[in-house]
Amino acid sequence: MQTKSFSLSALLSALFNPAERFLRPCLIVGMVSLSLWSAPLQAQDAKTGLTGEAHAADLVQARQMLMDALEEQMMAVEAALSGKDPKIVDLQNRAYQMNILFSAFPHLFAPQTQPAKGNDDPGYQTNAMPKIWQDFERFYEDVQNAAGISLAASQAKDMPSFRDQIKKLRNGCDSCHAEFMTPVSDPHGP
Ligand code: HEC
Repeated sequence: MQTKSFSLSALLSALFNPAERFLRPCLIVGMVSLSLWSAPLQAQDAKTGLTGEAHAADLVQARQMLMDALEEQMMAVEAALSGKDPKIVDLQNRAYQMNILFSAFPHLFAPQTQPAKGNDDPGYQTNAMPKIWQDFERFYEDVQNAAGISLAASQAKDMPSFRDQIKKLRNGCDSCHAEFMTPVSDPHGP
């Protein structure tokens, strides 16, 4: 108790004693410069992990690779369906892989990865249309639908219903590309 009141009075006198007045400006300058110094640090922290900002070209490549992986699964499924004696378990596994890929896909459209305007070179090449960002919820819903059809295919109880789902899924690929993808010179694109 004794020590406490002693240190409190020492602090008060340090702040208000005319001899110690120089301490106050020092304290204020110190606090202001501390907040100026930490503000940009906090802003930087808030952006950590935003790969659209820091790694836009890699992000675009990631979503294109996802689409390529989808194409690979879809081609294998369609080829098997037009062949003799397709194995439903194998095809259901492939449909499930497509469900996983579709689930990740719509999260790879950071606003910083839109197609370049004019002659700007953003450092990546995308065939995604600006319309995606103008009507993002509809695009998102289209991807969710495709994910849902893939999941339904992976759980189809027999071959005829599996075929139906895959037909629906192919329509889903085509209608989304027609609406949201620039018609391309993509050699393996549908
Ligand atoms: C809801 C929209 C949507 C659906 C559904 C969709 N795609 Fe795509 N796809 C896109 C968009 C957008 C791009 C362009 C991505 C880019 O270039 O940034 C693309 C690109 C592609 C590409 C080219 C990838 C590359 O390397 O540039 C292939 C191949 C492809 N899709 C196949 C498919 C297949 C197969 C399906 C169906 C099983 C499918 N897509 C379903 C929107 C969709």
